[in-house]
Amino acid sequence: MPRNQKWTMVTGGAGFIGSHLAEYLALQGRRLRIVDDLSTGCRGNIEHLLGPDCELHPLRIGDALAAEPELFDDVDEVYHLAATVGVKCVVQDPVTAIGNNVGQTDAVLAAAARSGVRVLLTSSSEVYGRAAAKPLGEDDELHYGPTTSPRWSYALGKAINEHQALAWRARCGLEVVIVRLFNTIGPRQSGRYGMVVPRFVQWALRGEPLVVHGDGRQRRAFCDVRDVVRACMALMAEPACHGRVFNVGSDRSVSIAELARLVIDLAGSQSPIELLPHERVYGPGFEDPRDRVPDLGRIREAIGFAPAWHLEKTLSQLIEQEAVVG
Ligand SMILES: NC(=O)c1ccc[n+]([C@@H]2O[C@H](COP(=O)([O-])OP(=O)(O)OC[C@H]3O[C@@H](n4cnc5c(N)ncnc54)[C@H](O)[C@@H]3O)[C@@H](O)[C@H]2O)c1
Repeated sequence: MPRNQKWTMVTGGAGFIGSHLAEYLALQGRRLRIVDDLSTGCRGNIEHLLGPDCELHPLRIGDALAAEPELFDDVDEVYHLAATVGVKCVVQDPVTAIGNNVGQTDAVLAAAARSGVRVLLTSSSEVYGRAAAKPLGEDDELHYGPTTSPRWSYALGKAINEHQALAWRARCGLEVVIVRLFNTIGPRQSGRYGMVVPRFVQWALRGEPLVVHGDGRQRRAFCDVRDVVRACMALMAEPACHGRVFNVGSDRSVSIAELARLVIDLAGSQSPIELLPHERVYGPGFEDPRDRVPDLGRIREAIGFAPAWHLEKTLSQLIEQEAVVG
């Protein structure tokens, strides 16, 4: 590899989506500087990539950039995925989650703006809050519940991240593209932090009940992580996409009860389905939006994106892998 080649930084690169992104970037011959505090990610996710052209820095990214600005030496792009992810983590410890998602992200954006590094910022479909549009378009109004309900702090934090990115762009021309990822699934996703698909797969294979929160009629659209990282890389590579916000995901929705039934059928399981009220999981007043499906018109027009992985194909692969690992 030529020594003058620049580095790509991936924050949160030892996590679920970040590790797939790192694999795809490595395949393209990029040199990788992965910065991950290993709070929810793990070295094992990227062990196979590590070497002279792929470094792991086990650090908290915002603090690290403040203490060691040379981390950005020879970096020309950063995919910023590091975050406290998922409503469960946020509801359990909002102070940590808000500090991490808002404070650390501003530090990354400020350092990138100062160093002329282009950024892909991972936002979330959560920013739509309880917005009811079907499908959800990037310019739709955002709608949140009261601040006394901590579940909205994740959504608001991600919305602030988008404002931070666009503010740095307005102030000093930061090249930044913002992606609102919808439900992403695939190998290496952990069920420990409340993600539905890995937990359904494990329960179905053990013959245990699949516990569906609420009435199970809420609809979500699940996209394979390999489609998601392909889209992120294409958006980063296209200067016309910088300064813009894109939904990234699948627009085929299923209800959570249908998803449970599909996993049971594909796994050949006898597991029953049990409903559990949201309040029993997250406390009183918890709200779960009914439908969350992206409008993909903008990303289709910008980079011709269409998901290639069908839900059944991803689920079958996950079931097969989990059956081997046990
Ligand atoms: N998985 C999804 O369905 C989904 C949906 C919408 C948005 N997203 C966003 O995509 C990104 C990646 O999510 P994921 O699903 O891969 O979650 P993940 O928890 O597997 O990955 C996040 C990674 O960031 C690391 N991390 C957290 N804070 C850090 C910090 N301050 N410094 C360095 N590393 C830090 C964690 O150790 C972990 O490896 C997140 O920004 C998340 O908000 C994910």
